[in-house]
Amino acid sequence: MSDQWQRVAAVDEIEEDEPISVHVGEHTIGVFLVNDTYYAIEDICPHAYALLSQGFVDGEEVECPLHEAVFHIPSGRCLKAPADRDVKTYPVKVDGDDVFINVAP
Ligand code: FES
Repeated sequence: MSDQWQRVAAVDEIEEDEPISVHVGEHTIGVFLVNDTYYAIEDICPHAYALLSQGFVDGEEVECPLHEAVFHIPSGRCLKAPADRDVKTYPVKVDGDDVFINVAP
């Protein structure tokens, strides 16, 4: 359903090395720009509590700022402990100057 797409930012609010954190309903979501493509992933690290959007972005990977778990941004895959599970990903679309995320289950 189209009403499950939520506008979260303007395209120019997100830089390649400066992801943002947004709240949609009860979801806290990190929005990343990697190689001209926007990605949305669960922003709260599953290990303890840190925002991945405040971590260190290296290409398609982001390192948690707290204990250095690494996640693959396009897939949400956990690549390095101490986190022990993948993070959820959300569909993203760009319409004009706006970025939308779909948080439907
Ligand atoms: S909180 Fe992210 S690795 Fe510990």
